[in-house]
Amino acid sequence: MLKTKAKPFLKWAGGKSQLLCQFEKYYPDDLSGGIIENYIEPFVGGGAVFFEIMQKYNIQHSYIYDVNKDLILTYRVIQRKPDFLLEILQKHQSDYDHADEQDRKNLFLSIRDHFNAQRFEINHTIFSENWIPRAAQFIFLNKTCFNGLFRLNSRGEFNVPFGGYKKPNIWDKNNILAVSEVLQNTRIELSNYENCFDLANEKTFIYFDPPYRPISKTASFTTYTGFEFTDIEQIKLSRFFNKLDTQKRSKLMLSNSDPKNENPNDDFFEKLYDGYKLHRVYAKRIINCSAEKRGKINELLIINYRLPI
Ligand SMILES: C[S@@+](CC[C@H](N)C(=O)[O-])C[C@H]1O[C@@H](n2cnc3c(N)ncnc32)[C@H](O)[C@@H]1O
Repeated sequence: MLKTKAKPFLKWAGGKSQLLCQFEKYYPDDLSGGIIENYIEPFVGGGAVFFEIMQKYNIQHSYIYDVNKDLILTYRVIQRKPDFLLEILQKHQSDYDHADEQDRKNLFLSIRDHFNAQRFEINHTIFSENWIPRAAQFIFLNKTCFNGLFRLNSRGEFNVPFGGYKKPNIWDKNNILAVSEVLQNTRIELSNYENCFDLANEKTFIYFDPPYRPISKTASFTTYTGFEFTDIEQIKLSRFFNKLDTQKRSKLMLSNSDPKNENPNDDFFEKLYDGYKLHRVYAKRIINCSAEKRGKINELLIINYRLPI
Protein backbone atom coordinates (compact mmCIF):
# COMPACT_ATOMS: atom_id res chain seq x y z
CA MET A 1 0.00 0.00 0.00
CA LEU A 2 1.21 3.51 -0.84
CA LYS A 3 2.28 5.51 2.20
CA THR A 4 0.25 8.70 2.75
CA LYS A 5 2.28 11.84 2.24
CA ALA A 6 1.88 14.15 5.22
CA LYS A 7 0.37 17.53 4.38
CA PRO A 8 -1.10 20.40 6.43
CA PHE A 9 -3.86 19.13 8.71
CA LEU A 10 -5.45 22.59 8.93
CA LYS A 11 -6.59 25.31 6.57
CA TRP A 12 -4.34 28.23 7.47
CA ALA A 13 -4.27 31.86 6.40
CA GLY A 14 -1.24 32.34 4.16
CA GLY A 15 -0.88 28.55 3.70
CA LYS A 16 1.77 27.75 1.10
CA SER A 17 0.48 24.44 -0.35
CA GLN A 18 -0.29 26.07 -3.71
CA LEU A 19 3.18 27.57 -3.98
CA LEU A 20 5.30 24.51 -3.23
CA CYS A 21 6.13 23.72 -6.87
CA GLN A 22 7.19 27.30 -7.48
CA PHE A 23 9.24 27.47 -4.27
CA GLU A 24 11.27 24.40 -5.09
CA LYS A 25 13.67 26.07 -7.48
CA TYR A 26 14.49 28.70 -4.86
CA TYR A 27 15.60 26.25 -2.16
CA PRO A 28 19.34 26.22 -1.46
CA ASP A 29 21.38 23.74 -3.47
CA ASP A 30 22.87 22.41 -0.24
CA LEU A 31 19.47 20.95 0.62
CA SER A 32 19.51 18.32 -2.11
CA GLY A 33 23.28 18.03 -1.77
CA GLY A 34 22.79 16.77 1.80
CA ILE A 35 24.92 19.54 3.32
CA ILE A 36 21.96 21.07 5.16
CA GLU A 37 21.35 19.11 8.38
CA ASN A 38 18.89 21.35 10.22
CA TYR A 39 15.60 22.89 9.20
CA ILE A 40 13.85 25.64 11.17
CA GLU A 41 10.44 27.13 10.44
CA PRO A 42 9.91 30.01 12.89
CA PHE A 43 6.33 30.90 11.74
CA VAL A 44 5.04 27.41 11.04
CA GLY A 45 1.25 27.95 10.78
CA GLY A 46 -0.15 25.06 8.74
CA GLY A 47 3.39 23.95 7.86
CA ALA A 48 3.06 23.30 4.10
CA VAL A 49 6.76 23.97 3.46
CA PHE A 50 7.80 22.11 6.60
CA PHE A 51 6.03 18.88 5.54
CA GLU A 52 7.42 19.18 2.02
CA ILE A 53 11.03 19.68 3.12
CA MET A 54 10.90 16.98 5.77
CA GLN A 55 9.68 14.35 3.34
CA LYS A 56 11.84 15.31 0.39
CA TYR A 57 15.25 15.98 1.89
CA ASN A 58 17.51 14.38 4.40
CA ILE A 59 17.00 16.63 7.43
CA GLN A 60 18.46 15.42 10.71
CA HIS A 61 17.11 18.04 13.13
CA SER A 62 13.98 20.11 12.69
CA TYR A 63 12.37 22.83 14.76
CA ILE A 64 9.04 24.57 14.35
CA TYR A 65 7.83 27.67 16.18
CA ASP A 66 4.60 29.60 16.44
CA VAL A 67 3.01 31.94 19.00
CA ASN A 68 -0.49 30.53 18.49
CA LYS A 69 -0.97 28.54 21.71
CA ASP A 70 -3.64 26.15 20.48
CA LEU A 71 -1.92 25.55 17.17
CA ILE A 72 1.26 24.44 18.96
CA LEU A 73 -0.76 22.40 21.46
CA THR A 74 -2.36 20.60 18.50
CA TYR A 75 0.99 19.85 16.84
CA ARG A 76 2.19 18.39 20.14
CA VAL A 77 -0.89 16.23 20.57
CA ILE A 78 -0.48 14.87 17.03
CA GLN A 79 3.17 14.15 17.81
CA ARG A 80 2.43 12.26 21.05
CA LYS A 81 -1.14 10.94 21.00
CA PRO A 82 -2.46 10.67 17.44
CA ASP A 83 -4.65 7.64 18.17
CA PHE A 84 -6.52 9.22 21.08
CA LEU A 85 -6.96 12.39 19.06
CA LEU A 86 -8.35 10.41 16.11
CA GLU A 87 -10.92 8.71 18.35
CA ILE A 88 -12.36 12.10 19.34
CA LEU A 89 -12.18 13.44 15.78
CA GLN A 90 -14.08 10.41 14.53
CA LYS A 91 -16.85 11.19 17.02
CA HIS A 92 -16.95 14.85 15.92
CA GLN A 93 -17.09 13.73 12.27
CA SER A 94 -19.94 11.34 12.93
CA ASP A 95 -21.93 13.91 14.98
CA TYR A 96 -21.52 16.45 12.20
CA ASP A 97 -22.38 14.05 9.37
CA HIS A 98 -25.54 12.83 11.08
CA ALA A 99 -26.90 16.28 11.90
CA ASP A 100 -29.16 18.38 9.71
CA GLU A 101 -28.11 21.91 8.74
CA GLN A 102 -29.44 23.63 11.87
CA ASP A 103 -27.99 21.01 14.18
CA ARG A 104 -24.61 21.29 12.50
CA LYS A 105 -24.59 24.96 13.31
CA ASN A 106 -25.64 24.22 16.90
CA LEU A 107 -22.90 21.60 17.19
CA PHE A 108 -20.36 24.14 15.90
CA LEU A 109 -21.55 26.79 18.36
CA SER A 110 -21.52 24.44 21.31
CA ILE A 111 -17.96 23.26 20.53
CA ARG A 112 -16.87 26.85 20.03
CA ASP A 113 -18.42 27.85 23.41
CA HIS A 114 -16.73 24.95 25.11
CA PHE A 115 -13.39 25.75 23.49
CA ASN A 116 -13.65 29.36 24.67
CA ALA A 117 -14.85 28.52 28.18
CA GLN A 118 -11.91 26.16 28.69
CA ARG A 119 -9.23 28.62 27.68
CA PHE A 120 -8.21 29.53 31.22
CA GLU A 121 -8.12 25.94 32.37
CA ILE A 122 -5.51 24.82 29.89
CA ASN A 123 -1.84 25.02 30.74
CA HIS A 124 -0.34 25.34 27.28
CA THR A 125 3.20 24.64 28.41
CA ILE A 126 2.93 21.23 30.12
CA PHE A 127 1.37 18.29 28.32
CA SER A 128 -1.79 17.01 29.97
CA GLU A 129 -4.64 14.67 29.00
CA ASN A 130 -6.97 17.66 28.59
CA TRP A 131 -4.88 18.75 25.61
CA ILE A 132 -6.30 15.92 23.49
CA PRO A 133 -9.98 17.02 23.40
CA ARG A 134 -8.82 20.62 22.99
CA ALA A 135 -6.72 19.71 19.94
CA ALA A 136 -9.75 17.85 18.52
CA GLN A 137 -11.92 20.94 19.06
CA PHE A 138 -9.29 23.13 17.42
CA ILE A 139 -9.24 20.91 14.32
CA PHE A 140 -13.04 20.65 14.30
CA LEU A 141 -13.43 24.45 14.47
CA ASN A 142 -10.81 24.97 11.78
CA LYS A 143 -12.57 22.59 9.39
CA THR A 144 -16.09 23.85 10.03
CA CYS A 145 -15.70 27.60 10.56
CA PHE A 146 -15.85 30.18 7.79
CA ASN A 147 -12.83 29.75 5.46
CA GLY A 148 -10.69 28.11 8.16
CA LEU A 149 -9.94 31.48 9.69
CA PHE A 150 -8.45 31.87 13.12
CA ARG A 151 -9.50 35.07 14.85
CA LEU A 152 -9.76 36.01 18.51
CA ASN A 153 -11.74 38.88 19.99
CA SER A 154 -10.29 41.22 22.60
CA ARG A 155 -11.25 38.75 25.36
CA GLY A 156 -9.25 36.02 23.64
CA GLU A 157 -12.34 34.14 22.43
CA PHE A 158 -12.38 32.40 19.07
CA ASN A 159 -15.17 34.20 17.19
CA VAL A 160 -15.15 32.98 13.58
CA PRO A 161 -18.69 32.11 12.42
CA PHE A 162 -19.96 28.75 11.19
CA GLY A 163 -18.84 27.89 7.64
CA GLY A 164 -21.89 25.82 6.67
CA TYR A 165 -19.86 23.13 4.88
CA LYS A 166 -21.63 19.91 3.91
CA LYS A 167 -18.68 17.51 3.92
CA PRO A 168 -15.73 18.86 5.90
CA ASN A 169 -12.87 16.40 6.38
CA ILE A 170 -12.63 16.51 10.17
CA TRP A 171 -11.38 12.97 10.74
CA ASP A 172 -8.47 12.80 8.30
CA LYS A 173 -7.02 9.62 9.73
CA ASN A 174 -4.22 8.74 7.30
CA ASN A 175 -2.94 12.26 7.17
CA ILE A 176 -2.91 12.72 10.96
CA LEU A 177 -0.91 9.49 11.28
CA ALA A 178 1.49 10.58 8.54
CA VAL A 179 1.88 14.01 10.18
CA SER A 180 2.57 12.34 13.51
CA GLU A 181 5.35 10.29 11.94
CA VAL A 182 7.01 13.37 10.44
CA LEU A 183 6.80 15.12 13.82
CA GLN A 184 8.59 12.36 15.73
CA ASN A 185 11.98 14.01 15.32
CA THR A 186 10.82 17.63 15.43
CA ARG A 187 11.08 20.06 18.31
CA ILE A 188 7.82 22.00 18.55
CA GLU A 189 8.09 25.35 20.34
CA LEU A 190 5.41 27.74 21.57
CA SER A 191 7.69 30.67 21.17
CA ASN A 192 8.56 33.89 19.42
CA TYR A 193 10.59 33.41 16.21
CA GLU A 194 13.65 35.11 17.69
CA ASN A 195 14.27 32.21 20.01
CA CYS A 196 15.56 30.06 17.18
CA PHE A 197 18.78 32.06 16.97
CA ASP A 198 20.95 29.78 19.10
CA LEU A 199 20.02 26.70 17.06
CA ALA A 200 21.17 28.13 13.75
CA ASN A 201 24.50 27.40 12.10
CA GLU A 202 25.93 27.16 8.58
CA LYS A 203 24.26 23.78 8.04
CA THR A 204 20.81 25.21 8.76
CA PHE A 205 18.07 26.23 6.35
CA ILE A 206 15.46 28.61 7.80
CA TYR A 207 12.23 29.45 6.02
CA PHE A 208 10.38 32.49 7.37
CA ASP A 209 6.72 32.95 6.55
CA PRO A 210 5.65 35.82 8.80
CA PRO A 211 2.11 37.20 8.85
CA TYR A 212 1.54 39.19 5.71
CA ARG A 213 1.96 42.87 5.49
CA PRO A 214 -1.65 43.56 4.39
CA ILE A 215 -1.83 44.41 0.69
CA SER A 216 -4.86 46.58 1.29
CA LYS A 217 -6.71 47.91 4.30
CA THR A 218 -9.56 45.47 3.68
CA ALA A 219 -7.33 42.39 3.37
CA SER A 220 -5.93 42.50 6.87
CA PHE A 221 -5.68 38.91 8.02
CA THR A 222 -2.61 39.32 10.15
CA THR A 223 -4.28 38.76 13.51
CA TYR A 224 -3.71 35.09 14.20
CA THR A 225 -3.26 35.42 17.91
CA GLY A 226 -4.80 38.70 18.90
CA PHE A 227 -1.53 40.57 18.16
CA GLU A 228 -0.90 42.57 15.02
CA PHE A 229 2.28 42.01 13.03
CA THR A 230 2.95 45.65 12.24
CA ASP A 231 5.53 47.29 9.98
CA ILE A 232 7.68 47.72 13.08
CA GLU A 233 7.60 43.92 13.49
CA GLN A 234 8.57 43.52 9.82
CA ILE A 235 11.54 45.82 10.39
CA LYS A 236 12.60 43.87 13.50
CA LEU A 237 12.35 40.65 11.52
CA SER A 238 14.57 42.02 8.75
CA ARG A 239 17.23 42.86 11.36
CA PHE A 240 16.97 39.34 12.72
CA PHE A 241 17.37 37.96 9.18
CA ASN A 242 20.48 40.07 8.74
CA LYS A 243 21.89 38.92 12.11
CA LEU A 244 21.41 35.26 11.19
CA ASP A 245 23.03 35.86 7.84
CA THR A 246 26.11 37.61 9.16
CA GLN A 247 26.61 35.80 12.48
CA LYS A 248 25.38 32.27 11.72
CA ARG A 249 25.81 31.94 7.95
CA SER A 250 22.57 29.95 7.76
CA LYS A 251 20.69 29.63 4.48
CA LEU A 252 17.63 31.89 4.75
CA MET A 253 14.44 32.20 2.74
CA LEU A 254 11.57 34.57 3.60
CA SER A 255 8.21 35.14 1.93
CA ASN A 256 5.67 37.92 2.14
CA SER A 257 2.94 39.51 0.09
CA ASP A 258 4.22 41.93 -2.52
CA PRO A 259 3.05 45.49 -1.73
CA LYS A 260 3.55 46.29 -5.44
CA ASN A 261 0.38 44.31 -6.14
CA GLU A 262 -1.47 47.35 -4.87
CA ASN A 263 1.00 50.15 -5.21
CA PRO A 264 3.82 49.80 -7.79
CA ASN A 265 5.80 52.47 -5.95
CA ASP A 266 5.79 50.71 -2.60
CA ASP A 267 9.32 49.42 -2.10
CA PHE A 268 9.06 48.62 1.59
CA PHE A 269 10.65 45.17 1.25
CA GLU A 270 13.26 46.25 -1.34
CA LYS A 271 14.52 48.74 1.22
CA LEU A 272 14.32 46.37 4.18
CA TYR A 273 16.17 43.57 2.39
CA ASP A 274 18.59 45.69 0.42
CA GLY A 275 21.59 43.55 -0.52
CA TYR A 276 19.61 40.28 -0.70
CA LYS A 277 18.07 38.57 -3.72
CA LEU A 278 14.37 39.34 -4.08
CA HIS A 279 12.25 37.12 -6.36
CA ARG A 280 8.57 37.19 -7.27
CA VAL A 281 6.30 34.17 -7.65
CA TYR A 282 2.60 34.01 -8.53
CA ALA A 283 0.19 33.31 -5.70
CA LYS A 284 -3.53 32.77 -5.58
CA ARG A 285 -4.67 34.51 -2.43
CA ILE A 286 -7.14 32.10 -0.85
CA ILE A 287 -8.20 33.97 2.26
CA ASN A 288 -9.88 37.17 1.29
CA CYS A 289 -13.24 38.55 2.37
CA SER A 290 -14.71 38.73 -1.08
CA ALA A 291 -14.49 35.99 -3.70
CA GLU A 292 -13.85 38.41 -6.57
CA LYS A 293 -10.63 39.58 -4.92
CA ARG A 294 -9.12 36.09 -5.04
CA GLY A 295 -7.17 36.79 -8.22
CA LYS A 296 -3.54 36.14 -9.08
CA ILE A 297 -1.03 38.26 -7.26
CA ASN A 298 2.70 38.24 -6.62
CA GLU A 299 4.37 36.86 -3.56
CA LEU A 300 7.89 37.90 -2.60
CA LEU A 301 10.70 35.47 -1.89
CA ILE A 302 13.85 36.85 -0.34
CA ILE A 303 16.96 34.68 -0.05
CA ASN A 304 20.53 35.15 1.15
CA TYR A 305 22.24 32.55 -1.08
CA ARG A 306 23.11 32.07 -4.72
CA LEU A 307 20.94 29.92 -6.92
CA PRO A 308 22.40 27.60 -9.57
CA ILE A 309 22.06 29.38 -12.93
C1 LIG B 1 1.62 33.34 7.23
S1 LIG B 1 1.35 32.32 8.64
C2 LIG B 1 2.34 30.95 8.21
C3 LIG B 1 1.68 30.12 7.16
C4 LIG B 1 2.38 28.80 6.92
N1 LIG B 1 3.63 28.95 6.20
C5 LIG B 1 1.48 27.83 6.17
O1 LIG B 1 1.85 27.29 5.11
O2 LIG B 1 0.37 27.58 6.66
C6 LIG B 1 2.20 33.12 9.92
C7 LIG B 1 2.24 32.40 11.27
O3 LIG B 1 3.11 33.14 12.14
C8 LIG B 1 2.64 33.05 13.47
N2 LIG B 1 3.25 34.18 14.22
C9 LIG B 1 2.83 35.47 14.32
N3 LIG B 1 3.70 36.19 15.05
C10 LIG B 1 4.70 35.34 15.42
C11 LIG B 1 5.91 35.49 16.17
N4 LIG B 1 6.25 36.66 16.70
N5 LIG B 1 6.72 34.41 16.35
C12 LIG B 1 6.37 33.20 15.81
N6 LIG B 1 5.22 32.99 15.10
C13 LIG B 1 4.41 34.05 14.89
C14 LIG B 1 1.13 33.10 13.32
O4 LIG B 1 0.49 32.53 14.44
C15 LIG B 1 0.91 32.29 12.02
O5 LIG B 1 0.63 30.93 12.30
